[in-house]
Amino acid sequence: MGVIGLGWAGETHLKNYLRLPNVEAVALAGLEEPRLRELGQRYGVPNLHRDYEELVARDDLDAISICAPNHLHAPAAIAALKSGKHVLCEKPLARTGAEAEEIVRAAREAGRVVHVAFTQRERGDVQVLKSHILDGNLGRIYHVKATWMRRNGIPGMGSWFTNKEMAGGGPLIDLGVHIIDMALYLMDEPEIESVSCATYAELGTQGRGGRGDAKTIVGDTYEVEDLATAFIRLSGGATLNLEAGWAAYRESSDDFGLTLYGTEGGAEMRVRNYGTQDTVRIFTDVSGVPAVVIPEIEPREGHLVVVRRFVETVRSGEWEGQVGEEGLRRARVVDACYTSALEHHEVFLDGHTGSR
Ligand SMILES: NC(=O)c1ccc[n+]([C@@H]2O[C@H](COP(=O)([O-])OP(=O)(O)OC[C@H]3O[C@@H](n4cnc5c(N)ncnc54)[C@H](O)[C@@H]3O)[C@@H](O)[C@H]2O)c1
Repeated sequence: MGVIGLGWAGETHLKNYLRLPNVEAVALAGLEEPRLRELGQRYGVPNLHRDYEELVARDDLDAISICAPNHLHAPAAIAALKSGKHVLCEKPLARTGAEAEEIVRAAREAGRVVHVAFTQRERGDVQVLKSHILDGNLGRIYHVKATWMRRNGIPGMGSWFTNKEMAGGGPLIDLGVHIIDMALYLMDEPEIESVSCATYAELGTQGRGGRGDAKTIVGDTYEVEDLATAFIRLSGGATLNLEAGWAAYRESSDDFGLTLYGTEGGAEMRVRNYGTQDTVRIFTDVSGVPAVVIPEIEPREGHLVVVRRFVETVRSGEWEGQVGEEGLRRARVVDACYTSALEHHEVFLDGHTGSR
């Protein structure tokens, strides 16, 4: 394995690979030299590179993890696929639908695997919800609300995160892509018909709402939204309401959640500060009386699940169709949301029109 990126994501991938049997971390790449040496030593990685291109060019890697800023996801993934490597890419797969499409095409042409680290859907509570849905306890889900909101949660003020070119956007592409993923996964991948989105940049632009984490500064302007809201129409008449914010005047916590309304039942998931206990409530009728089920949740480590599945898929040799299409679908939704916000109108996705 080779890992690109030395931030939280890069270290988490590296750590989890090393928990698996017969996986060797051969190379690591990143720009912060002291941190590169420190991680190399801590995890016993023999080959350290400054730039991702050097790592990707190595011929002793089967696969790489991309944990670099979003603008590097497509170039790193495509270069790796072209040289025959499998790719585990952090979310979002890319900054735009077009970039994500290029990655998927490169994976198909190379006959290699692309997985995207949608780690939050692997949480124990999301998995419990999924099994209730698969058992039919909610019936047909017709409306979902998905939110991820922080008070002062802008990551790396002035870093790549707040640079439009490098990040592709703000909380919508960063946090929104996780809640879009969870919602579409739970709803069994409905088609997206249209999106209507608005974005705001009220606090970040005034230098407020930062999380205070130290990251390399690339500029002093705040170029992305700090809050996004969207209304998304799905196939079969279902709808999804989205709210993703890094900064807003609200409770001082980092909270995400889902509300699902189905024909036979409903559910709420409320996660406060990444907590894992007592997060889900399922609402049904038992003998004609409203009842609330509070399932016990077994915590699961999202990154471990994702990394293990990636390694198992690569080892299995069954690579067909594992080309990152879910990542592409999410990238298209995010992309359409930004277009809608910019142009102030509803945007219809491939082949869909407003008429019924
Ligand atoms: N799934 C999750 O829960 C999760 C959590 C955090 C971050 N992420 C994703 O992981 C990615 C990285 O996020 P982060 O918070 O770790 O960012 P970060 O800014 O902390 O780290 C980015 C790393 O990329 C490296 N890098 C930049 N340019 C490079 C180049 N040319 N060659 C090699 N390395 C280069 C930097 O040196 C740095 O070490 C993002 O896409 C983010 O969305 C996902």
